[in-house]
Amino acid sequence: MKKDLLSINDISRQEIEALFDLADFMAKIEPETPRDSMNKWLLEMHCADKVLAKMFFEPSTSTTSSFELAMLNLRGKVVGFNSPEVSAVSKGESLSDTARIYDGYIKRSGGGLIVVRHPQAGAAEIVAECAESPVINAGDGDNEHPSQALVDLYTIQKRRGAIDGLIVGIWGDLKHSRVARSLMLGLNKFNDIEFFLKAPSELWTDAYFLEQIQHEVHLGLMGIFPELDVLYVVRIKKERFEDPKDYEAVMSSYCVTPELMEQCKESMLLMHPLPRVDEIAKEVDKDPRAVYFEQAANGIPVRMALIATLLGTSLEALENS
Ligand code: NCD
Repeated sequence: MKKDLLSINDISRQEIEALFDLADFMAKIEPETPRDSMNKWLLEMHCADKVLAKMFFEPSTSTTSSFELAMLNLRGKVVGFNSPEVSAVSKGESLSDTARIYDGYIKRSGGGLIVVRHPQAGAAEIVAECAESPVINAGDGDNEHPSQALVDLYTIQKRRGAIDGLIVGIWGDLKHSRVARSLMLGLNKFNDIEFFLKAPSELWTDAYFLEQIQHEVHLGLMGIFPELDVLYVVRIKKERFEDPKDYEAVMSSYCVTPELMEQCKESMLLMHPLPRVDEIAKEVDKDPRAVYFEQAANGIPVRMALIATLLGTSLEALENS
């Protein structure tokens, strides 16, 4: 794998599949593996006592906590911040200086990596240019969120057994959703995917982005619900609107209800990266096709596998240890 994961395009299908095999291995050993059995893998994992530095300039529940738990499960350490107000950024420190400080700590501690989330597209790339340690983009503006795409693809793979050949609906704020972009680019690596996209008229993704998608893309979901294998819903990104009135004009404009779920097939997966606001009714949560909390939980083994891979682990080495 490359040094950094800045875009889902930084990882090939073959590497994704190897990562998923490693995630399966990780899923078996977390959360409470006894020290003794863990010890034989620790050396091969190259993670023990290494440092994961979190630079989170935007709020997060699942991404920050699953990265943290993943590193702790691998017996590594975690430092950093979850909001710029509590770091020296609030005193005027630049992104590149913050990156250099953490990179220095990581090198002094015997290795590790940086995970960065930032409201600006391209911010993760700036961090990667300043740091010798591997950098994971945990969301840069409206651009990409590749580790979320890995979690999403892993969830689909686990639930359906395969990713090729799926009919995928994506519904929501496609203009601002870095999750939807990384998922679509991720699905580009698989075969025979068909997309059905739906967004409020002001919140469509740009045509330039869609040109990168090699699969068939249809606009609208009308009449297609019974055909979908996956319905992926994203919220409207309130924080991206300059004028709150523009947000109010589109908020609550779509919602997955139990009635809508009745139209969908038994094997369909209803997915969401979380946080959910009101785009999926709470009553849908008990539907066995609603997999968003399982998806969030898959963040732990997938991110364990990602961290371990970037720090030099392979499944082969673990199985032979
Ligand atoms: C997403 C994000 O931050 O882009 N959340 C996540 O990482 N699970 C989605 C969102 O904020 O709506």
